[in-house]
Amino acid sequence: MIPSITSMKDAFSLKGQNALITGGNRGLGFAIASAFAQQGANVAIFCRDAKKAQEAIEELKPLGGKYESFSCDVADLKSVRKAVAEAYASFGNFDILVNNAGTSCVSELLDMDEELTDWYNVVNIDLNGTVHMTYEVGKRMRDAGKGGSIINIASNAAFIVNKTQPMSPYSSSKAAVVHFTHCMACELGKHNIRVNAICPGFTNTELSRFIPADQFAYINNQMPLGRFGEPIEIGALAVYFASPAAAQVTGTAQVIDGGYILSC
Ligand SMILES: NC(=O)c1ccc[n+]([C@@H]2O[C@H](COP(=O)([O-])OP(=O)(O)OC[C@H]3O[C@@H](n4cnc5c(N)ncnc54)[C@H](OP(=O)(O)O)[C@@H]3O)[C@@H](O)[C@H]2O)c1
Repeated sequence: MIPSITSMKDAFSLKGQNALITGGNRGLGFAIASAFAQQGANVAIFCRDAKKAQEAIEELKPLGGKYESFSCDVADLKSVRKAVAEAYASFGNFDILVNNAGTSCVSELLDMDEELTDWYNVVNIDLNGTVHMTYEVGKRMRDAGKGGSIINIASNAAFIVNKTQPMSPYSSSKAAVVHFTHCMACELGKHNIRVNAICPGFTNTELSRFIPADQFAYINNQMPLGRFGEPIEIGALAVYFASPAAAQVTGTAQVIDGGYILSC
């Protein structure tokens, strides 16, 4: 059993914990890496763009922990296997896994090409990438016997249909990630491994800059809280799920979207 906290002192500390974050080189993944590092964690970043990974590592360095990046395509099980082995050789053990790497596409199903390229690309990264990482890291967490926390970055799109932007592969993958989270919470609880999902809504990242002004205003109006989320707010929620404060929390999917799904 994972012991409960007995005081609020250090309840949100990640001091000395090792965290592995896919897609930690930019966007929400980097915000989570930075939030973890500020709470005392060491961070391994998995991604494909080595230059962007190096920039992220340089930005984390002043925080004083151990930060390294590993080249990995989460859609490719062989690549995941190799990168996880390399990361364990360097870090020894991981307490936290964040499955954040993701992609999307905007297209109706019937407009896709004959090979359904867009469908398979999104499902292979968003859903299968999460499964690949959970398989490789989960086995090592189980065998180390120290428990762990797995956090899957899903989306509020798991629960709603975005009618202005058709994206069925994305929404379907994220819905599957949420239910995969439920299944893994049940399967891994006996190993003291907690599994939770974070479901962000519209968040201010590089991508949101490309949303046309009229759509941006419409979305903000739809949101009870009236603004896009900030990446650091996703980082703060991830810190909570990873921290001792959440010792009794598993199998949950927390929406963080300013209340947007309530207005759809
Ligand atoms: N931003 C939002 O408003 C929002 C809302 C809801 C949910 N989300 C979810 O939050 C997560 C991060 O989104 P974001 O906005 O930060 O996206 P982003 O800026 O486009 O970053 C995507 C990240 O995933 C990595 N990645 C993509 N494909 C990969 C692959 N095959 N193997 C390894 N890494 C891969 C990228 O690194 P490389 O390209 O270097 O590999 C990058 O670090 C995603 O799962 C997304 O669905 C975002």
